[in-house]
Amino acid sequence: MQAKSLKPYAEPLDEIAQEAVARMKSIRNENNMIENNLLDEFMSYVLEFTGIIALGRRFYAFDPNLREGSLTPILLRNVQDFFALSDKLDFQPNLWRYYPNKTFRTAMKFLEEAEKLNVKLLRTAMEELKKNPKPEEKKGVLEKLAEINEDVALAFADDMFFVGVDTLANGMISVLYLLANNPDKQTKLREELMSKESRRPYLRACIKEAARMRPVAFGNLRLTTTEYNIFGYEIPKDTMVLFCHEHMSLREDQYPQPNQFIPERWLVDKNHPLYHGNAHPAAAVHFGYGARGCVGRKAADMEMEILISRVIENFRLEWRGKPMAVYQSVSNHNMAPYNFIFNDV
Ligand code: HEM
Repeated sequence: MQAKSLKPYAEPLDEIAQEAVARMKSIRNENNMIENNLLDEFMSYVLEFTGIIALGRRFYAFDPNLREGSLTPILLRNVQDFFALSDKLDFQPNLWRYYPNKTFRTAMKFLEEAEKLNVKLLRTAMEELKKNPKPEEKKGVLEKLAEINEDVALAFADDMFFVGVDTLANGMISVLYLLANNPDKQTKLREELMSKESRRPYLRACIKEAARMRPVAFGNLRLTTTEYNIFGYEIPKDTMVLFCHEHMSLREDQYPQPNQFIPERWLVDKNHPLYHGNAHPAAAVHFGYGARGCVGRKAADMEMEILISRVIENFRLEWRGKPMAVYQSVSNHNMAPYNFIFNDV
């Protein structure tokens, strides 16, 4: 997905972000905290974004009258089950590789059902499109793809509704957590947002810095297709190589003061000791790289920028208590309790 092709979605996505902020205001308790599971909350906002980008439609996660009949709870459960099953099958000792045990059978059944829902979503959208044609800029990415090749569109629907939702929600929560814990940086960001300048370099820098410190994906895996000799290390063919950028991007020799949230390092010029370009070019590649790099990167950046902007414009964030823990699995999950305080600006 290219930034240019995503431009028409900016306005509807901003409307969703404003609705999300209104919902956050309405569900705060008397201490300005949100008791609902914040990760689920954010995943439902991301699902709403995904509905627009993928299918040019809403799931009505915010409307209390429609929330009951909305698909959001089903889609949300699918993302949660996808994560939980992948965690059991791929990250914990499990015998499924030797015989199709219960977890494996549950996972297959789940995938079949989730796939059926994605097929239904896509077919319904295509039928609707035939009855009521939309101008090109109002069509979702999947609608456009399905007009060319429905199978490819379906495969992409699975990616968008599974891998794109929990990654993005976790990424957003990490940015907000670091801003809540660094009030001076938060104020600086708010000033940039309030200035209404169309360029927002500090916002971009905050997002990059959060990805450096709390990456959603801990690394990239590749299977070697030939033998390599890298600085004297022999790597045979057919070896899994893990590129663990989570550790690379927290190394002092790559990023000075690595545990400090310093968005400025992405903005200062090359004579400054914190200049990010002094790090190895592959020290912080949180969307992967090359032909298998993240196809949702531009959409993720755009959605993140829009929601973070609206949240910081509306709330002065604080964090109470212990640091937010991370559960490392298929991707890094920010764990409850989410002790944010959402004060009005
Ligand atoms: C903060 C949010 C996100 C992060 C950190 C992230 C990160 C990643 C990473 C690290 C990879 C593996 C890249 C590689 O091996 O080189 C990946 C792959 C992928 N991502 Fe994302 N992603 C995010 C959001 C999204 C979104 C929103 C979508 C969909 C719209 C998406 C779709 C995909 C797809 C389809 C692949 C597989 C590409 C392939 O194997 O060819 N991602 N992502």
